[in-house]
Amino acid sequence: KLAVDAASESVAAGGSALDGIEVGIRLIESLGSDGSVGLAGRPNAAGYPQLDACIMAGPTRGAGSVGGMEGIVHPITAARRVMDSSKHVMLVGEGARWFALEHGLESVDVSDLDAKKAAWVEREQDPAEPLEKGHDTITLWMLDGNGDLFGGCSTSGAGGKLPGRVGDSPILGAGLFVDNEVGAAGATGVGENVMRYSATTVIVEMMRQGMHPQEACEAMVHRIAAVDPLGYQLDVCFIAIDKQGRTGAAASNQRFPFAVGLGGRSEVRSVEAVERP
Ligand code: GLY
Repeated sequence: KLAVDAASESVAAGGSALDGIEVGIRLIESLGSDGSVGLAGRPNAAGYPQLDACIMAGPTRGAGSVGGMEGIVHPITAARRVMDSSKHVMLVGEGARWFALEHGLESVDVSDLDAKKAAWVEREQDPAEPLEKGHDTITLWMLDGNGDLFGGCSTSGAGGKLPGRVGDSPILGAGLFVDNEVGAAGATGVGENVMRYSATTVIVEMMRQGMHPQEACEAMVHRIAAVDPLGYQLDVCFIAIDKQGRTGAAASNQRFPFAVGLGGRSEVRSVEAVERP
C-alpha cells in the first residue's frame, strides 16, 4: 500500500507512470518494511544481501534488469538505468554494481551490513534453512490514463540463498511480465518454482486468450501444482492486471496481501490459497 500510494502521488504531481513505479519501489527499498526488499532484506548464505530487480515499459517494450547485485541502495533505479542508458536488458553481479556506481547510484560497503546479518540470523532463522522459509518481493504495476502498462519488481531474494543465485524477480517473464496489448503479471514466492514455468509470461498469454486475470492466476497455480512433485506445497503467488484494469491474484498455499489503487485511493486485499481440485 505504501508503494501504491507513493506511486500515485508521484503521478498526481506530474511524474510519468514509470517514475511512479520507481518512486514506489524505492520507498520500500529504503524502508526495508517488506523484510525482503533492498539492503535491509535477507542476506545470502555468505551473510550479504544480493539484490534483484527489473522494470518494464509496455509502450516501448523497454526493459532493464539487475541480478545478484551487492551494496546498491536502489536496485530498481539500477534496473531503470540499464533500460534507459545501456544497450542491454540485464546486468548481473559485479558488472551490475559497477554500472550502478558509474551512474552515480547510492551505495554501501557490504561489510557495513554485518550487524544486519547478525540481527537477521538471531531474529529469524539460520541462513542454511530451506528457501521456503525466507523470501518475498515487491511487484508494482501501473495502468496509466493512456491505457499503457508499466511494471517493476525488487527483492533481496531468498534468505540464505547461495551467493550468485538469481531468483525470478529480475527475469522477464518469470517474476514480472508486461505486455502493453494484453496486461501484466507478477510473482512472489520461491523464485525457482516461478522460473521453471515462465509463469508470468504464461499468465499474460492466458489473458490474451480471454481469461480474466483472476482466472489466469489460479490456472497458473493449478498448472504448476499439477506437474511439480511438491504440488500445492510449492510456494508461489501471482498477481495480474489486464488492459481493462481488472485485477486478479492467487496463491498456492498461503494468504498474502496486495494493494490496489484507483483515483488516489488505495486498499489492501488479501488472497487466499486456491481451492484444490
Ligand atoms: N521471488 C523472490 C525470489 O525467490 O528470489
